[in-house]
Amino acid sequence: MRRKLIAGNWKMHGNLVDNEALLHGILAGMGDVKAGVAVSVPFPYLAQVKAKLAGSRIAWGAQNVSQHAKGAYTGEISAAMLNDFECKYVIVGHSERRAVYGESDQLVAEKYAAAQTAGLVPILCVGETLEERESGVTEAVVARQIDAVLAKSGVISLANAVIAYEPVWAIGTGRTASPEQAQAVHAFIRGKIRGLDADVANNLVIQYGGSVKGANAAELFVQPDIDGGLIGGASLSAEEFLAICRAG
Ligand code: 13P
Repeated sequence: MRRKLIAGNWKMHGNLVDNEALLHGILAGMGDVKAGVAVSVPFPYLAQVKAKLAGSRIAWGAQNVSQHAKGAYTGEISAAMLNDFECKYVIVGHSERRAVYGESDQLVAEKYAAAQTAGLVPILCVGETLEERESGVTEAVVARQIDAVLAKSGVISLANAVIAYEPVWAIGTGRTASPEQAQAVHAFIRGKIRGLDADVANNLVIQYGGSVKGANAAELFVQPDIDGGLIGGASLSAEEFLAICRAG
């Protein structure tokens, strides 16, 4: 039985004062949460979340990482640096990184490998645009995104990774994929991995992301191949995030 994992992705939001209140609120409400919980925060707040969450049931991580281990890469952050802040997770290949910063499947695969080399658990985001869905290539797009990682790191690497299916058209739009739409893609992903390694596939946590709220989390998480969520906007409210966590 896979344990659900609910991860907040704060994106580029927060400040020291608001974060303190948000983390306090989440910690205070964790008593009846059974799922695993994590938050991915902007780099400058890693020290704050480490101080606040150390010893709690909530893990933390970053939202991006360099593909390089070290060197002359001004403005970049290495996986080893994330280890200094005891990150467990790092998001790689978020659709905003792919679309706004031009990250290719190949680059995402390199970041995934760099994260794992340093002992971090990558949360690999995949998902299609609306145009791709409407032209019937959702599975081909998701397969291509995963294949880049498989080619570089092999299927066994997924034993220490999370996949987040985030349809681009559902991110920040209020338009959630229906439970059936999401389940279909999750089943496709698991089936693809099962063809390579059944144990890895059965244990792989595949999160759904895209306009998850307290009100729609339960119907998504009850689907057989949906193992929790990657939560954007709703993770900025302790009450809303906890409602999602309780549905996991
Ligand atoms: P929203 O929950 O705001 O739609 O964002 C989803 C997301 O991109 C999480 O990584």
